[in-house]
Amino acid sequence: MLLAENIQVGYGSKIVIQELNLTIAPGQITTFIGANGCGKSTLLRTLARLLKPTAGTVLLDGRDIFKRSTREVAKQLALLPQTPYAPPEVTVRQLVRLGRYPHGRWLGGWSDRDEQAVQEALAAMKLTDLADQPVDTLSGGQRQRAWIAMTLAQETDLLLLDEPTTYLDLSHQLDILDILRELNRRHHKTIVMVLHDLNLAARYSDVMVAVHQGTVYTQGKPEKVMTPETIRAIFDVECVVIPDPVAGTPLCIPIATRNHEVGEDAGRTQEPAQARHALELAR
Ligand SMILES: Nc1ncnc2c1ncn2[C@@H]1O[C@H](COP(=O)(O)OP(=O)(O)O)[C@@H](O)[C@H]1O
Ligand SMILES: [Mg+2]
Repeated sequence: MLLAENIQVGYGSKIVIQELNLTIAPGQITTFIGANGCGKSTLLRTLARLLKPTAGTVLLDGRDIFKRSTREVAKQLALLPQTPYAPPEVTVRQLVRLGRYPHGRWLGGWSDRDEQAVQEALAAMKLTDLADQPVDTLSGGQRQRAWIAMTLAQETDLLLLDEPTTYLDLSHQLDILDILRELNRRHHKTIVMVLHDLNLAARYSDVMVAVHQGTVYTQGKPEKVMTPETIRAIFDVECVVIPDPVAGTPLCIPIATRNHEVGEDAGRTQEPAQARHALELAR
């Protein structure tokens, strides 16, 4: 469905993504993990046709995404950026209506179909009662739901979300992830997202993609990707991975960051006493 073939992407002369190949499996939840600045947002924006690769191609349903119109692509794929911006005073309903833009016709205005899509998106995100409230007066969790409602109103098969849970407290993180899982399982949306919480990523994803220095370090089921070796390689952190006692998915317990100091200890892992103890317990 969505495929990156040997892409290279950058800003000006700076190359951020190189030799990256990726297939997004239809009907699944795929999550990108990786260190700050490794290129996750750049990759997501390239997959959403907002950035043009300097080499390679992005294919959507077998066709080069850059040879198709913005409107056509927007009927198939919606992107929620990392830091979306709504002008002050914009209400939830007005925001969600923007999601209908790609469906607009040249002549004739708002259709019943548009209205229905907006109502459904508001209801799905439990925002019907807040529809006339300005977005900037909402709590963090409500605001994130409003943005997701906007992408839902777009009625696409593919949803791309950049850090949809960042800045939310734990209960609202779970709330958003449960909603996304529901959209995937019940409404068959293909979801591609970036998450920072590795353990929630492992719990909610069918596929994890470990991004490192602008390319895919490894990808696959959470059990394959969440290993001490991969975590060390992409975050420079030593960890123990145990089964999540609730979900059974891999759970990463960080122990220590690797020592970056120059000198005698350079490259050695700091292993405080309690971390050693944890390691022994895990073994
Ligand atoms: N608009 C931009 N102009 C120039 N450099 C950028 C721009 N956006 C991102 N970068 C650079 O590209 C690299 C990858 O950024 P990004 O894709 O945002 O990483 P991530 O989302 O993994 O944190 C970083 O070095 C960042 O500074
Ligand atoms: Mg980012």
